[in-house]
Amino acid sequence: MDRKDFLKQAGIILTASCTGAILYSCSNPADGEFSDDNIVNSTDPGFTVDGNHIKIDLGSEAGQIISQLNGWLLIRDRRILVINTDGQNINAFSSQCPHAACATSWASSNGNLTCTCHGSVFTGEGEVIQGPATRDLTFFESELTTEVYIITLP
Ligand code: FES
Repeated sequence: MDRKDFLKQAGIILTASCTGAILYSCSNPADGEFSDDNIVNSTDPGFTVDGNHIKIDLGSEAGQIISQLNGWLLIRDRRILVINTDGQNINAFSSQCPHAACATSWASSNGNLTCTCHGSVFTGEGEVIQGPATRDLTFFESELTTEVYIITLP
């Protein structure tokens, strides 16, 4: 194999590897990695806003996501994070990061929430476990029934 053939084959292998990595990371939201499915608005199907209550129908697409272990949502227009911590309990927090107030740049992995502005990491209970943030996320009261998840805003 001459140098030209080697470089050509190496390029094909590298391209295939990168494509596979991208497809894997984009097609596996069940493990909690970032996916467009996790970014929603309260005007989307399955959401009802009633005064200071945000209701998520558990039968909707968003409801199905938060019904799963480590399933999470960023409700972007209301600046709310929602995460399923153990398959049964769901917590809601303000998505305004206590470090420098980024509110719409979040990802999740292994049940933790990461503010992608500067990398602060919080548990599914909202506790800061990696800075630069030094405070926990602001907790919102919520209630889970058999059909809906209801977040109460302050
Ligand atoms: S604003 Fe979240 S880590 Fe800086």
